[in-house]
Amino acid sequence: MKPLRIGLLGIGTVGGGTFDVLTRNAEEISRRAGRPITVIKVAARNEAKARRVVPASVPVTPDFLSVARDAEIDVIVESLGGTEPAKSVILEAIAHGKHVVTANKALLALHGNEIFAAARAKGVIVAFEAAVAGGIPIIKALREGLVANRIEWIAGIINGTTNFILSEMRGKGLSFADVLTTAQAKGYAEADPTFDIEGVDAGHKISILAAIAFGIPLSFEKAHVEGITKIEAKDIRYAEEMGYRIKLLGIARRREAGIELRVHPTLIPAKRLIANVEGVMNAVLVKGDAVGATLYYGAGAGANPTASAVIADLVDVARLIDADASHRVPYLAFQHDRIGTEPVLSMDDVETSYYLRLRVDDKPGVLADITRVLADNHISIDAMLQKEPEEGEAQADIILLTHETIEKNVKRAIAAIEAQASTSGKIVLLRLENLA
Ligand code: NDP
Ligand code: HSE
Repeated sequence: MKPLRIGLLGIGTVGGGTFDVLTRNAEEISRRAGRPITVIKVAARNEAKARRVVPASVPVTPDFLSVARDAEIDVIVESLGGTEPAKSVILEAIAHGKHVVTANKALLALHGNEIFAAARAKGVIVAFEAAVAGGIPIIKALREGLVANRIEWIAGIINGTTNFILSEMRGKGLSFADVLTTAQAKGYAEADPTFDIEGVDAGHKISILAAIAFGIPLSFEKAHVEGITKIEAKDIRYAEEMGYRIKLLGIARRREAGIELRVHPTLIPAKRLIANVEGVMNAVLVKGDAVGATLYYGAGAGANPTASAVIADLVDVARLIDADASHRVPYLAFQHDRIGTEPVLSMDDVETSYYLRLRVDDKPGVLADITRVLADNHISIDAMLQKEPEEGEAQADIILLTHETIEKNVKRAIAAIEAQASTSGKIVLLRLENLA
């Protein structure tokens, strides 16, 4: 059978890994796809660099749009990253009737609604397994394997860089900056690593998962996004003492009033499997009403794991290329004319549990004042830890864990406690999920 002809755009970590694995496993992939999958052209702005991976038999061009328009090409693999030129090239390829495989979650989270509409109009596939959780086939699991379920919530460690940083800081006592440099050298981090450490990359990914899980439009702009840069070593320590690990979680949860969509550092009971996911590994917990909780685990970044996902998409294209477009799996799992209108909830309306760290005077009555404010705001305490004041200090750290409550109540309580003369500085707020 005639090969599926690929135009590969960008040949960095993901593009290079894809080229390598396609070459290395060509025979096995062809037996599964029913036809060979062959890169016939590569677009790269630096040919010398591309030639470290691409043999002389495959042409390399700096003209990305020419690949998108090339009549010989069936599918483009976009592994450039960012918005431009990636978006223009993808739309041009779609306009020329080409299928698209992309690892670019930033582009999909921000412009996916437009890209999928263009692809639907042309009857072409846009596949993006690599965009979320690297090598874990979570898109396929949610879009196909779990279709019988009403999804209740998703909670995932979906950024390898931050999980690697938190693991190395906790396990080896290394500094944040040193670990970030290592993550960059290993090819895990985004071109702009602030996307990783400030939670933006995880925000892109959870927005994609939420759209597929709940049948809502891609809504990254409504997600709450908070990274790990403010996490202090003592919070990691205190959390451990109370039986918890801190992980950067992407969370999407269906509530009666709408959808919670949030990324933030989260305390998780240390006994949960997901709390023990370390290094660049990712894991996604999905709770469906019929199946219960299912957990997906694997490498969330890096050349080979991401190539595994990109090539899975290419094999899907090879198998479906001759099928009628109306028989294909919808891009975001739900039929496009059945997309829901549930609102994304503001953080004030989110319901979860909290870790609060306060610095207070070590004297009688202080704790009573604090608990009174919490009770006035309908916040129930689940656990408490009081640390001895350091030698020569008159103040101590108190850590409170709350039961589930509404975030606006917690914010109101924090403002009232911070106003008390016995409390100094800002109260540290982290969220806690039991994931039971
Ligand atoms: P790299 O930086 O390693 O590679 C990007 C490639 O695209 C390079 O060849 C680069 O050229 C080229 N490129 C980037 N910007 C431009 C531009 N403006 N014009 C022309 N060429 C450009 O990135 P990754 O491979 O890590 O990431 C690619 C995509 O895959 C991103 O969307 C990323 O989010 C996603 N992804 C990455 C994963 C990973 O583990 N790294 C995992 C999952 C998804 P040059 O070499 O000249 O800079
Ligand atoms: N920068 C991303 C991460 C790459 O660290 O998870 C994989 O999407």
